Amino acid sequence: MIPTVNGSLPGPTINVREGDTLVVHVINNSTYNITIHWHGVFQLKSSWMDGANMISQCPIQPRNNFTYRFDITGQEGTLLWHAHVVNLRATLHGALIIRPRSGRPYPFPKPYKEVPLVFEQWWDTDIELLNSRPAPISDAYLINGLAGDSYPCSKNRMFKLRVVQGKTYLLRIINAALNTHLFFKIASHNVTVVSVDAVYTTPYVSDVMILTPGQTVDALLTADQPSGMYYMEISPYTSANSLVPVPPSTPIRGLIVYEDAKSTASPSNSLMPSGMNAISTAHRFSSNITSLVGGPYWTPVPDHVDEKMFVTMGLGLKPCPPGTKCIGPFGQRYAGSLNNRTFVIPGTISLQEAYFYNISGVYTDDFPDQPPMKFDYANFGVRTNFEYKLMFPERKTSVKTLKYNSTVEIVVQNTGIITPESHPMHLHGFNFYVLGYGFGNYDPIRDADKLNLVNPQMHNTVGVPPGGWVVLRFKANNPGAWMFHCHMDAHLPYGIVMVFIVQNGPSPETSMQPPPSNLPQCTRDPTIYES
Ligand code: C2O
Repeated sequence: MIPTVNGSLPGPTINVREGDTLVVHVINNSTYNITIHWHGVFQLKSSWMDGANMISQCPIQPRNNFTYRFDITGQEGTLLWHAHVVNLRATLHGALIIRPRSGRPYPFPKPYKEVPLVFEQWWDTDIELLNSRPAPISDAYLINGLAGDSYPCSKNRMFKLRVVQGKTYLLRIINAALNTHLFFKIASHNVTVVSVDAVYTTPYVSDVMILTPGQTVDALLTADQPSGMYYMEISPYTSANSLVPVPPSTPIRGLIVYEDAKSTASPSNSLMPSGMNAISTAHRFSSNITSLVGGPYWTPVPDHVDEKMFVTMGLGLKPCPPGTKCIGPFGQRYAGSLNNRTFVIPGTISLQEAYFYNISGVYTDDFPDQPPMKFDYANFGVRTNFEYKLMFPERKTSVKTLKYNSTVEIVVQNTGIITPESHPMHLHGFNFYVLGYGFGNYDPIRDADKLNLVNPQMHNTVGVPPGGWVVLRFKANNPGAWMFHCHMDAHLPYGIVMVFIVQNGPSPETSMQPPPSNLPQCTRDPTIYES
């Protein structure tokens, strides 16, 4: 048994236009606490609708209902919705497609058809048991709910896209996998990327793409090859040089079928990048994309920075409590941190309500702008005292408060010792500019000069390269409590999470509204929420 929305996997596609108000009634007939997060939606002045469990709201409890209602403004493209409580997003997710207002064109030639492609992970087990397995391991991957011919039991259930010679299709691609970055490739065809995370890009031609969990790509595919059948393929990108043995995963295939293809023709194969080639392919794809300057919603990079942060991301180990079974290497527990803090999710009231009603004792306003010790992670892969300290982070619910409309720049430095892998950092409520990506230590003199302030890509989720860094900038123009966290679902309980509180602006127009009267209440029993 798996929990689903309206009985389907993936869940229903939501189609809206920019400028619409989206209203979704959630009726919780499951036995779980639920929230639904609208991943990548700005939620301008509607932070109560963000759906982050115990951050923006208490969960919708079994046999309870809640209605999400918010405006979708200032963004177009492909996003996703998903549950935001423990690992329920494994099966509770779907596409959220935002088209231009009627009469407004795309900034690229109108496609003949649009095709959502939702990539997922599948486990032959109960969702509750997932936490007892190492994160990257699943039994299969799915394209729009189908595992295809990689397994005997699903060989007749393969996703097929029928195409007409010469026509162009807009693929709306979503990586809804819990814990794996995925490569995607179509045999013998190039695609043209036109948007990432619902932000238009300079058209970028590629034969392969990579998406971190939570990322989306819109790409044009033209049926310009000799008539026939061609595989499309997804395969996991495991940048982790992990001590956890990860069994080789089987790539999952779908088919592009030209309308007059002979049914006997054998499909042409594609070849996925692997090993070091995978790291360089991933880096090339991720770092080459630029924003469509002058396109819809483009705003130039703010050049004045009000708040500078340097955030180190750690994934290490902590001792396993006696008498329990832990899944980390050497039988220990994983511990994650940002600036040496392991985020503890509040247990009795949502963080946003505690902020709004001024309830003390729920969180502290002291998230550090810098890591607490001198950053001497000089040699990637070499164990230093600094790394050792990262293995014993402080457990705390601490937030970083931002003034309304301030511009924030964050250098995120990946320092994972146990598993130097790419971590997809996701910011709720905002898109950020990605000014630069690199490997090794961020050097404020050498690297700051090379940042792209002209046409940087924008994202809500960015993969911080293994043993590397990214520089992000965003404008805090939306009051409320917003999570910034690793979008590998398994890393949420490890605490690779922080929360920004953006204060009210000068007018009622720029201030938080009171919560809706039916916002779910927490009960007095904190044990029913995630820890
Ligand atoms: Cu898509 Cu906080 O997540």
